[in-house]
Amino acid sequence: MFRVTRRYAFSASHRLNSALLAPEENRRLYGKCNNPYGHGHNYLVEVSARGPLDPYTQRTIDTDALDRLVAREVLAQLDHRNLNTEVAAFEHAVPTSENLAGEICRRLKRQWRAVFPGEWPCLEKIRIAETARNIFEVTADEIE
Ligand code: NI
Repeated sequence: MFRVTRRYAFSASHRLNSALLAPEENRRLYGKCNNPYGHGHNYLVEVSARGPLDPYTQRTIDTDALDRLVAREVLAQLDHRNLNTEVAAFEHAVPTSENLAGEICRRLKRQWRAVFPGEWPCLEKIRIAETARNIFEVTADEIE
């Protein structure tokens, strides 16, 4: 069994603010990430797939097919966007990097079998580096 990871990059802005909480509680919880006009990140996203070697190609995954899937379902829809106002998933959910990783995973899972129809490769996990010091990871099994 092999694990293959591809790395992608996109930029987006966000503001951490929960509609369920009072303004002062949002400020206390999220600090400068709650500033009203938001701020940007250069996100690095790693997509990991797992599977056996394909006997014909001697590869685990068609990386061109993965690139097309990520470009269509993730990069085209998130790059240079305001996550709070331009991405439906964050209309009500706070765009923390945990939620962003979950959303990216959900998007890829939804289309995965259309692109990779066999048993393998399977989507294993999503890892996001929001900054050099903040790294978030979610395994695909944990996401609906
Ligand atoms: Ni931020």
